[in-house]
Amino acid sequence: MTTPMLQMTGITKRFPGVVANDGVDLTVLPGQVHTLLGENGAGKSTLMKILYGLYTPDEGTIELNGVPVTITSPADAIRQGIGMIHQHFMLVPTLTVAENVALGLGGKWGMAKMGPVKKRLAEVSERYGLHVDPDALIWQLAVGERQRAEILKALYRDAELLVLDEPTAVLTPPEVDDLFVTLRQMQDDGKGLIFISHKLHEVMELSDEITVLRNGRVSGRTRPSEASRHKLAELMVGRPVELTRNVAPQKVGAAQLIIDDLDVVGDVASWRSRTSRSACMLVKSSELRACPATDSVNLPRRSSVCGPSPVEV
Ligand SMILES: Nc1ncnc2c1ncn2[C@@H]1O[C@H](COP(=O)(O)OP(=O)(O)O)[C@@H](O)[C@H]1O
Ligand SMILES: [Mg+2]
Repeated sequence: MTTPMLQMTGITKRFPGVVANDGVDLTVLPGQVHTLLGENGAGKSTLMKILYGLYTPDEGTIELNGVPVTITSPADAIRQGIGMIHQHFMLVPTLTVAENVALGLGGKWGMAKMGPVKKRLAEVSERYGLHVDPDALIWQLAVGERQRAEILKALYRDAELLVLDEPTAVLTPPEVDDLFVTLRQMQDDGKGLIFISHKLHEVMELSDEITVLRNGRVSGRTRPSEASRHKLAELMVGRPVELTRNVAPQKVGAAQLIIDDLDVVGDVASWRSRTSRSACMLVKSSELRACPATDSVNLPRRSSVCGPSPVEV
């Protein structure tokens, strides 16, 4: 039998007034996508933060490749081959993609030499289809690009077991497709993946194994070939769930907000070209839509919209 890449046994974590994890067992094999499924508050992130050395469990043990380990910090987790893509990204916004990758790898100011970093970054990026400009400042990137930068950073550090905490929550459907291609490549390379989601169609598409958490406990273990979306939803909430909703057609009212000929000015460094895009949006009550010409407009950052008076976006 294959030795599990990860074996978490009897993990319990208590916070004041709540048992976030209550005797949780989780086994991940090499080359496997293992989904952690559960409602908000089920204890998924807590379990993964324990694995990543952010929390210490009150009870339970962790084995990596059959060897009992104690993981004392994220740096320790990385040393032991674990990477984690958090729900809220951890990159330094004022540094570039390559600088974020280099950060903490030694050298002057704790940053490795950029030449070799960029070379290897290009290789990793190519191998896993994670395309992002290594010289772009993080704060200027769209959220999907930031996520790719986070994944690159973990892969650059030779993560063999990668945790992705609700990675699709911030992505557009095409970006989800791209992410899945990347995850499949990692899987082919024998990496173990822990994928956290509560989107059942994604879980059914991607997973090899599924562990369902409810109120901090494992409520079920299954795999897509043995489970239906209804079954998964029932394991998540503890009762049968109606997955289709019948919503009566909404009446579209008068325009509530019109934005026209909007300029979005990238706050680019002086040595980069300035960019400007026009946007137009029409919002009527009961609907939100973008004008056709602006469907692809991707606002690069918060509070970058200029107008008669600046607005937050
Ligand atoms: N740092 C914390 N302090 C106190 N309670 C926490 C903390 N982190 C999580 N919790 C609680 O633990 C439970 C599980 O949370 P979490 O692991 O974030 O769930 P999930 O990721 O499945 O949404 C929730 O009730 C949450 O409020
Ligand atoms: Mg969470």
